[in-house]
Amino acid sequence: MPAAVPAVPATSPRITRAVQFRPPALGRAAPFCFDGPMDKLKILGGTRLAGEITVSGAKNAALPILAASLLTADEFIVDNVPQLQDVATTLKLLKQMGVAVERDNATVRLKADSVTRTEAPYELVKTMRASILVLGPLVARAGSARVSLPGGCAIGARPVDQHIKGLEALGATIRIENGFVVAEAKRLRGARIATDMVTVTGTENLMMAATLADGETIIENAAREPEVVDLAAALSAMGARIQGAGSDRIVIQGVERLHGARHRVMPDRIETGTFLSAVVAAGGSAVLRGAAAETLGAVLGKLREAGAQIDAQNGALRIRMDSRPRAVSLRTAPYPDFPTDMQAQFMALNCVADGVGEITETIFENRFMHVHELQRLGANITIDGNMATVQGVYKLAGAPVMATDLRASASLIVAALAAEGETTVDRIYHLDRGYEKMEAKLAALGAIVHRTR
Ligand code: UD1
Repeated sequence: MPAAVPAVPATSPRITRAVQFRPPALGRAAPFCFDGPMDKLKILGGTRLAGEITVSGAKNAALPILAASLLTADEFIVDNVPQLQDVATTLKLLKQMGVAVERDNATVRLKADSVTRTEAPYELVKTMRASILVLGPLVARAGSARVSLPGGCAIGARPVDQHIKGLEALGATIRIENGFVVAEAKRLRGARIATDMVTVTGTENLMMAATLADGETIIENAAREPEVVDLAAALSAMGARIQGAGSDRIVIQGVERLHGARHRVMPDRIETGTFLSAVVAAGGSAVLRGAAAETLGAVLGKLREAGAQIDAQNGALRIRMDSRPRAVSLRTAPYPDFPTDMQAQFMALNCVADGVGEITETIFENRFMHVHELQRLGANITIDGNMATVQGVYKLAGAPVMATDLRASASLIVAALAAEGETTVDRIYHLDRGYEKMEAKLAALGAIVHRTR
């Protein structure tokens, strides 16, 4: 049993600062806090963090679970849905398909009594690769789908061949036409599918499709991510028969129809890990309410190796960091190993750590774009293929930097909090895709941050 970290005082005597953030994006009643593509975050770093925040629902669980609404004609209610740009994009896509969508803060009610359009257009898919998650449900329920190919993205090629191969094994006929995946099937039939690599959304797409297939489907080499387990729980609540989610072999017995249900989205483990990394990089303490420690094994292990005291109690994670972090080495790999979505944030904390950390990225081929921006803050990083070697420096210095993708933005914020002086992070729209009320939460931890244009 780890020693309990003393409770974080509401105000720390060491920290007196005027917290400034522009309220419109956060304070208005509108459901989404996306403030346009040219927003920037200004962060005055170099001071310790202290405070308490509540973790939001997981983006990567909410997106497939919302897409699962296409599988039933009944009402499907989803709670703890984060207010994010990617969620807004998914709801827009579902509405275009004829799904009735009502949102009341974190609760979304969806009813797909008839699917009137089975197309996901390029304009939406290009902004969010996870749009591919409608492919499986559409073919299974409506018998056809036309989904734009996501194409390459900033962090790598990211093809969808495994989604296609799996749906073909389930009996769909698929062709690529004018940049679209066009899939058709009268009724899918169960099959044994072994994916060539572990794919999270691939596993989710095939699992959703198989719930309405005729007979048994076995997915081998399935992704074991907690978000897959959360989706399986939502589908089971709708009447799906799924076993083995969370292992690399998922068995689904198809049913004739799914029914309405209510499901609460799991806490966001990547958001949790991002705030924990920020405390380790900047020093201080925090309480993260609603965090799911059991989904963060590899990340918590590495944060403790860096010197953090972490204690999970009563559904909250408490972290305390009183010294400069020790550098940690890591290798990204599918769950339960270290997540690629936390790689950039750990790179940032290694930048100010004592020693040398080696970071190996094995999931995506081009996920080091944050390195050049971190170097602008004074980081000492060298890259050799898929390995980055970070020699920690005592202090980073604030500078203007540019976000290149979602988790790269998070790493720049972690670094900016640890850096002396002001950092302006441009193109913060990447951050708005996946972090709910980031500035408000940072401010609650005592950070000096505000949004500008
Ligand atoms: C999901 C997550 C993303 C995370 C990633 C890896 C969501 C919405 N997104 O993305 O945040 O970074 O898992 O944990 O859940 N691949 C193929 N062919 C395919 C599918 C994947 O070659 O058909 C490759 C990809 O290019 C990549 C690797 O497999 O190199 C893993 O990708 P995948 O797990 O599919 O990532 P996503 O599901 O897109």
